[in-house]
Amino acid sequence: MQNKIQRLLKEVETLAAKSAQEAEEIRVQWLGKKGIVTVLFDEFKNIAAEEKRVLGQQLNALKTAVQEKTAALRGAAEQSPDNVSGDYTLPGFPHPSGARHPITIVRNEIIDIFKRSGYTLAEGPEIEDDWHVFSALNFPPEHPARDMQDTFFIRQGDNAVLLRTHTSSVQVRKMDTQQPPIRVICPGRVFRNEAISARAHCIFHQVEGLYIDEKVSFADLKQAIVYFAQELFGAGTKIRLRPSYFPFTEPSAEVDVSCNICGGRGCNICKGTGWLEIMGCGMVDPNVLEANHIDPIKYTGFAFGMGVERIAMLKWQVRDLRLYFENDVRFLKQFAGANS
Ligand code: DAH
Repeated sequence: MQNKIQRLLKEVETLAAKSAQEAEEIRVQWLGKKGIVTVLFDEFKNIAAEEKRVLGQQLNALKTAVQEKTAALRGAAEQSPDNVSGDYTLPGFPHPSGARHPITIVRNEIIDIFKRSGYTLAEGPEIEDDWHVFSALNFPPEHPARDMQDTFFIRQGDNAVLLRTHTSSVQVRKMDTQQPPIRVICPGRVFRNEAISARAHCIFHQVEGLYIDEKVSFADLKQAIVYFAQELFGAGTKIRLRPSYFPFTEPSAEVDVSCNICGGRGCNICKGTGWLEIMGCGMVDPNVLEANHIDPIKYTGFAFGMGVERIAMLKWQVRDLRLYFENDVRFLKQFAGANS
């Protein structure tokens, strides 16, 4: 048997294959169920115990040699330029390429605009506590303003845990960790206990902005918003501020932009008014600064918050919010050419 193994070892060295398939055939011929090496291992079982040690080693060496040789043959055959298969004259298969989701596109566009005017990005958790979503933003425990947000509570009571209803909570997280100047933009997902319809959803996206420094004024807020609106909707875009109320800002305002569809003449998108509502804003309430350990005498600031779905609907005249969440590729494909 020893001689036979030596002879086979030499033979292994001379093995050659023109293709990966041939290499596989050789492997089966040697190592398959009835292969040369397999048969030798069967014979090995009947050999006298004293010969087994040496023979066993040689047999294993042979097996390894065959494995290595056939793997090398297969590798070489696969690398070979002769390894052509299929009909290269057939037309190619198009590779379908993905596209960004329209909400991502608009969110990135909003972030980019604010980044260009010096804002940095801040993010916070979606699962929040009462302090960061309500109390630190000047919602007193029984204040009716809390009813403005229909909240998904994970745990109610003194140590409430909830899904954030707005990204204003990230303002609080930022103020927790940084003293002014603060200039941040906070994009994120928010959750409200709403019935799903064409105009409302229980999950949507917001972008929040916060700027706190010495001598920040309402004029600065207006300028930031005009710049944003014109970058997003075009150079001629006008803005209009209407007085409003939010617990965390004083004074507060609702921002409209001139309708980008009809140029302000009135159409069914702007319901004949010539204006589209895009966000809420205001000067940060001194109570909020104080609750977050920022000196309200030394510092002032402004904040704003907008819904990404709403802006995307206005930008592309999408009439049903649910389309953004259904992920029907026929809808999503239409945004493949859009930037960002
Ligand atoms: N948090 C408000 C909402 O979810 C949006 C908002 C309004 C944010 C005014 C602000 C602001 O920062 O100043 O409806």
